[in-house]
Amino acid sequence: MSDDSKIATTTIDRYGVMGYPISHSRSPVIHRLFALQTGQNIQYELLQVSPEKLETAVRQFQRTGGKGLNITVPHKTEVSRLVDHTSERAATAGAVNTLSFVGSEIHGDNTDGIGLLRDLVVNLGVTLQDANILILGAGGATRGIIGPLLEMQPASIQIANRSLGKAAALADHFSKSGPVAACRFSAVPVANPYDLVINATSAGVKGEVPPYPAAAISKNSFCYDLSYGLQPTPFSVWARDVGAPQSVMGWGMLVEQAAESFSIWRGVRPDTAPVLKQMKITA
Ligand code: ATR
Repeated sequence: MSDDSKIATTTIDRYGVMGYPISHSRSPVIHRLFALQTGQNIQYELLQVSPEKLETAVRQFQRTGGKGLNITVPHKTEVSRLVDHTSERAATAGAVNTLSFVGSEIHGDNTDGIGLLRDLVVNLGVTLQDANILILGAGGATRGIIGPLLEMQPASIQIANRSLGKAAALADHFSKSGPVAACRFSAVPVANPYDLVINATSAGVKGEVPPYPAAAISKNSFCYDLSYGLQPTPFSVWARDVGAPQSVMGWGMLVEQAAESFSIWRGVRPDTAPVLKQMKITA
């Protein structure tokens, strides 16, 4: 009997997260807590898969009876190629973070944007309608959150980046859906104070603090870092230092995007509050 067929005979539904590297991922803990809370009989694995092995690994997981996968850095764009049905929000984001294996088909969705919205609006009570929003960074993370943020009808979204090209391309892409503009860090317009400042750069992961625009932070600027860590991230330290009244790391987005994936797969939405509390305690 091959390893594949042994796995296929299990009665527990199998899920997992694929990334490279992946050992730091909290997703298995979060999904185990969701499963415990909702009484779902699932197993959730950590799967380290290098870019050149992505397709083989996804197809093998499907062939051996796997029900769904979360896809994380650096595979979120590339995995779209393997998807038979892409949700509208995944298409807008240009990235997929949730795969469901439905018969012989692969369905792709993206729960990052809704995860951010739920954390900001439901957990943290941030008002997005008519807000002036500044997003720092213009990579894949920024692309994934602009569509959902625009749906909340903010007054404006300013994308600031180290280099102008990527920010300008994103602003161009989304400007037909709402008021989006681009600039360099050094040229952030500050005539209207920003209600929300989101760090979507990957600088903090490398321990770097780019010349973020301090003048953009006012006493009403709620600062949110898409990154999270055991210690305050470089951006959250910077935000506090330049006077932001509140500076929050992205633990809530992590838990909320996982809850959305879980409910796509299992048809039941877990209560995120106790899980978020536990993550922060064990973090
Ligand atoms: P992607 O998400 O597309 O894979 P990335 O390389 O992870 O891209 O970078 C994401 C964002 O973080 C980009 O906006 C990047 O700025 P550039 O477009 O100028 O490269 C930004 N970024 C990464 N490291 C940075 C740093 N040290 N200083 C400033 N911005 C940085």
